[in-house]
Amino acid sequence: MLGVTGGVAAYKAAELASLLTQRGVAVRTVMTEAAAKFIAPLTFAALTDLPVAGDMFQADQEATIGHIELARWADAVVVAPATANTLAKAAAGQADNLLTTILLATRAPILMAPAMNPQMYAHPATSENIAKLAGRGVLFLGPEPGRTACGEEGPGRMSQPTDLADAVQCLVTPHDLEGVKVLITSGPTREHLDPVRYISNPSSGRMGIELARFARRRGAEVWLVLGPTHLPDPWGVHTVRVTSAQEMQEAVLRHAADAEVSIMAAAVSDFRPTDCAPQKIKKGDRKSETCELVRTPDILAHLSRTTEGQILVGFAAETEDIVANAQAKLKAKKLDLLVANDVTDPASGFAVSTNRVRIITPDGRVESLPLLPKWEVAQRILNRVSRIIERRRKKS
Ligand code: CTP
Repeated sequence: MLGVTGGVAAYKAAELASLLTQRGVAVRTVMTEAAAKFIAPLTFAALTDLPVAGDMFQADQEATIGHIELARWADAVVVAPATANTLAKAAAGQADNLLTTILLATRAPILMAPAMNPQMYAHPATSENIAKLAGRGVLFLGPEPGRTACGEEGPGRMSQPTDLADAVQCLVTPHDLEGVKVLITSGPTREHLDPVRYISNPSSGRMGIELARFARRRGAEVWLVLGPTHLPDPWGVHTVRVTSAQEMQEAVLRHAADAEVSIMAAAVSDFRPTDCAPQKIKKGDRKSETCELVRTPDILAHLSRTTEGQILVGFAAETEDIVANAQAKLKAKKLDLLVANDVTDPASGFAVSTNRVRIITPDGRVESLPLLPKWEVAQRILNRVSRIIERRRKKS
């Protein structure tokens, strides 16, 4: 259930409703009277394909789905934006409109996304209300700092709809990875020749980001070591940004010791220039140039040698003999799972949102998955990881 209250950020709630609906979540919207002055209920009805509720005493609505019924129906309640006024009412336990009544009547987890003028947010009354609600188990996301609609700078802007959608889904997804620490690498690395030139590849980091997002959603504590990418940090994940293979290895080693699962999805450069020039290299009047390269550390191979009992998942980006090459990598790096993809296929290559992979296990079995969005590939990989964890726990 999406509760929308009367703030300028109400327009962003429409994007949240749309995102959740696209992800297969049934969204019923409840709007306060003030919210309906900022954005029309019809927008939410059209985006979610479900009726929007506002008035507690609407006879036809009470006859079909009353306020208590709505409170029971929801698996999660998100209030976005949550104004100072609604926070105060909720903290005081008031029930003077449909939304505040549902907040009192529901047993579902509640997530609130405050959005207001920075001074109002900083006021002790608001802080006390938030602390009171948090003490009762209400979860908060944001507000984010920046310039608010009233022209002031400071925390007051509503969190991004994508982050809110992730947080909502986290509340309703079964937590089969609760208590599991998962370490993920993703993205390319850059091996600099000089301050402005580097060796790299077109990886966007999306596959690892989806793995991190869904592992978090399923309850894991996730550390993501991410090479250079324009994609934003996934919500709720500890993201460490790195540039080179050397930096990626250092970050991985800082977090590897107590990880139960390591998924190495990064497209690490295998070589780097022997030296990185401190200043931009000038071409002068040379007709050609030779660059000497040395190997970078193989992070996954190092983990395989130095850790024990950890579930290791590798990726193999191949252009020929996919299965044979992938099986050789699985053996050489002693992996529990290997995810192989053909990077010459435009639908499963670098920097696209879909992937067609084969999942290979140490017993030699190969499961070929159809072309899927990367988030679904992430779910399938995590299902496998979850089953390995379950099997191990049963044994011990
Ligand atoms: N990998 C890594 N560190 C490296 C190279 C690769 O951790 N320096 C990891 C990748 O993240 C991936 C797996 O090893 O999970 C296989 O990577 P890939 O580039 O496909 O193969 P390589 O082992 O580098 O072998 P080659 O490049 O010869 O195919």
